[in-house]
Amino acid sequence: MCGIVGYIGNRKAYDILIKGLHRLEYRGYDSAGVALVARDGKINIFKTKGKVENLEAFCADKDLGACTGIAHTRWATHGEPSDTNAHPHYSEDGNIAIVHNGTIENYKVLKDALIQHGCKFHSETDTEVLVQLIEYIRISNKCSLFSAVRQALKQVVGAYAIAVVAKDKPDTIIAARQSSPLVIGIGDNEYFLASDATPFVEYTKECVYLKDGEIAEIKQGESLRITDLDNEESEIDVTTLQMSISQLEKGGYPHFMLKEIFEQPDTLRDCIRGRVVDRGHRIIINGVSDNREVFKNAKRIVIVACGTSWHAALLGRYLIQDMCRIPVVVEYASEFRYSNPVINKDDVVIAISQSGETADTLAAVQIAKEAGAFVFGISNVVGSSIPRETYAGCYIHVGPEIGVASTKAFTGQVMVLTLLSLAVAQLRGTMTDDQIAQVGKCVLKIPTYVKRVLETLNDKIERLSLTYTYARNFLYLGRGYSYPVALEGALKLKEISYIHAEGYPAAEMKHGPIALIDQEMPTVIIAPKGHVYEKIVSNVQQVKARGGNILAIVTDGDTEISKIADHVLEVPEMPECLTPIITSVPLQLLSYYIAINKGKDVDMPRNLAKSVTVE
Ligand code: F6R
Repeated sequence: MCGIVGYIGNRKAYDILIKGLHRLEYRGYDSAGVALVARDGKINIFKTKGKVENLEAFCADKDLGACTGIAHTRWATHGEPSDTNAHPHYSEDGNIAIVHNGTIENYKVLKDALIQHGCKFHSETDTEVLVQLIEYIRISNKCSLFSAVRQALKQVVGAYAIAVVAKDKPDTIIAARQSSPLVIGIGDNEYFLASDATPFVEYTKECVYLKDGEIAEIKQGESLRITDLDNEESEIDVTTLQMSISQLEKGGYPHFMLKEIFEQPDTLRDCIRGRVVDRGHRIIINGVSDNREVFKNAKRIVIVACGTSWHAALLGRYLIQDMCRIPVVVEYASEFRYSNPVINKDDVVIAISQSGETADTLAAVQIAKEAGAFVFGISNVVGSSIPRETYAGCYIHVGPEIGVASTKAFTGQVMVLTLLSLAVAQLRGTMTDDQIAQVGKCVLKIPTYVKRVLETLNDKIERLSLTYTYARNFLYLGRGYSYPVALEGALKLKEISYIHAEGYPAAEMKHGPIALIDQEMPTVIIAPKGHVYEKIVSNVQQVKARGGNILAIVTDGDTEISKIADHVLEVPEMPECLTPIITSVPLQLLSYYIAINKGKDVDMPRNLAKSVTVE
């Protein structure tokens, strides 16, 4: 939710800020803006509604010469997307400017107090309140910018990552964070600032992740100064990034989403690497082996997540219950946090989040920690909040996911949950060595099988998508391991093509949704071979008997469903517990091509943002 970029050094700040905003556009694209601070003490602010490309067009004939600047791409929370509500916001005297990611919960109280002191407001945003408060404190207390920001933040309730610049401080940016991410890149006599490290990875690999409650003075030519809000100096922890620039580009694909779908053979290989050893006989998840007693004695596992990650969590329930015989509860993080959850000390709570920054999931982590549970994180973004806030965890290692609709992160999450289940089963003795080796060997084949699915089905799905593009509603059905896949397939379709789609457990269909079935509404059925195969054949027949049009995902060589369905997509045979990774890939392609046929922006679907750092 909202992306922030900052630069201070000897280069043209505007170029770095715009490139950085493009990389952060996945965080929101309702409006964009920059504030450029010239050495002669002038702040130029340019901002427009819409995407970063609109801002570039708007800036084409403007004075862009400055070596210090801050920039923002917005996902609207307070106030509609508009030029006025776009960031940066500035104080009434025009002396300071701010960009902000997060929400200031007590902004109304602060605003009323500032109005009493004569402040006038131009936008509907909470951010304008903060910048006016900072300037009010700076003038009334005659203090430094750093001190004014610190004092202002002590009055703020809510979440923020901010960057502040001032006319009379052209060599300084003040940055601070609470619950929204912010990272400072350290270059050679230059500093970068961003919501994640992608805007500066080609300039420096050295960076410092700000922690909650920290405030930084970033001054060209001087060492970083970081304190907490009580002005106590913090230790500066420099991290070296592992990310490469090629991971952030489209690499010849028309969209990040398609690139990320096709990357899955490699990302799954990276995810498995070093974790399945002795040709599949042994599974190593360090976060499990380092906490053997916790996983051995766990009485229950609670998994919390949102969106696609919640679908991966549902698969986690099937995997863990099947393999480890531990009861598993899966909760939406947003519901968990307000449901007065009953958490015991011998529960393990697993939080799953691609970004590692989702506000609801992070809040669920805190609640679980307070209740005394052991909290384990599964994330993609190294150094993000959830890995930092959990006691142990596991990265999915799929590389930056830029397309807003999650694809490779989902399969990475499911893979990690599969490996975690095998590792815990090994530890608790709930599977024999032979059973583990059987699954372990197949896990090693998954990257090759996913590659085969992509090679054999891509063109077919592209052609088939034309048949389905103009449907207005879709039903996705699956049973057992294929039920969460149905939910995820439906979510992918609605996110990027804006077609209404419902995922359902196939047997539940007859308790209501069957009323919807007619020739106009396609049903996508996920039906690989498995212990509920015969049951789903009956469900396929029930749909067909009502005149429904069926697209089925089946195992190679399937004859039964192929006879009934209108179209089939065949995937390689796998042990049932591994089918979700294979069957979800054709569904990703289907939604991609339908959205393309409809002319939609698949990488930046309307109203969405990738990192949801607000409640
Ligand atoms: C859907 C999608 C979202 C995210 C959800 C949680 O394609 O990407 O539903 O899965 O917002 O995000 P993370 O995993 O970053 O916590």
